[in-house]
Amino acid sequence: MILIINKKNHMIKQAIIPLAGLGTRMLPLTSVMPKELMPINGKPNLQYILDECIDAGIKEFIFIISKKKLSIKKYFFNDNFYKKILKKKKDKKIFEEFKRIKRYKKMIKFVYQNTPKGTGDAVLKCQKLIKNKYFLMLLPDDLIIKKNCSKEMIRLHKKTNASIIATKRVERKTLSRWGILSIKNKKKNYFQIKDVVEKPSIKKAPSNFAIIGRYILPTKIFSEIKKLKPGQGGEIHITDAIKSLIKKENKFYGNIFTGKYLDCGTLSGYINSGIQIFKEKK
Ligand code: G1P
Repeated sequence: MILIINKKNHMIKQAIIPLAGLGTRMLPLTSVMPKELMPINGKPNLQYILDECIDAGIKEFIFIISKKKLSIKKYFFNDNFYKKILKKKKDKKIFEEFKRIKRYKKMIKFVYQNTPKGTGDAVLKCQKLIKNKYFLMLLPDDLIIKKNCSKEMIRLHKKTNASIIATKRVERKTLSRWGILSIKNKKKNYFQIKDVVEKPSIKKAPSNFAIIGRYILPTKIFSEIKKLKPGQGGEIHITDAIKSLIKKENKFYGNIFTGKYLDCGTLSGYINSGIQIFKEKK
């Protein structure tokens, strides 16, 4: 019996999604619409992330939103509006969407981050809601298609019993746009992480393996975040909390994911994502 409880405690069933960012890279569109709701091939960006997680066995989502992003809540909690429309119009497509939205709704909880103080601060807002020893965090700017990255990470987590970060090789000239990993014991699809550095200069980057927005984090991270002072750009970075945990001998592995990465955080990236996903579905 005890064994079963322990095993459950290690399962990854919750995913947190920071959604309180201002979306400045996509202004003026984001002044009226959260970038996470902007459609890609007919479906909000965020829904791709949710579907990836559900397929990987996630049962609960924690959305970190702000007062400025209430339309995200409205999108998932507007089923009465749908019900009325459905009564009048017996439209099959709307009915299917209504069912889908109801399913998501049951799984989502909200916490608020009204001042955008960085991903570390966003994660900390979820502390009271996290039930197991590890949880998944996904950054909605980063879509990964063709192969389920969260599933691959959960598999590696089960194998290593450690924290996991999604990673891929990036072009040298872009190194200072990412969190960069210092690596050891590289295997075909994963390696142990020796250190992390947030947006280093090209010269100081310890490798060309970048952090892509998927993390399996331990609850230990909360106490590390509390100790942090604002880093790069005056924000509390999750990268810095991870760095402290690694220094204290906590194991982190980089999962070199096999899917295709799409950066939706800029307008050109967003447009390209639409094209790629459209091609994929043809
Ligand atoms: C964040 C992380 C960074 C990571 C990137 C992936 O940066 O801080 O470590 O490489 O996401 O997209 P941001 O895109 O918020 O500047």
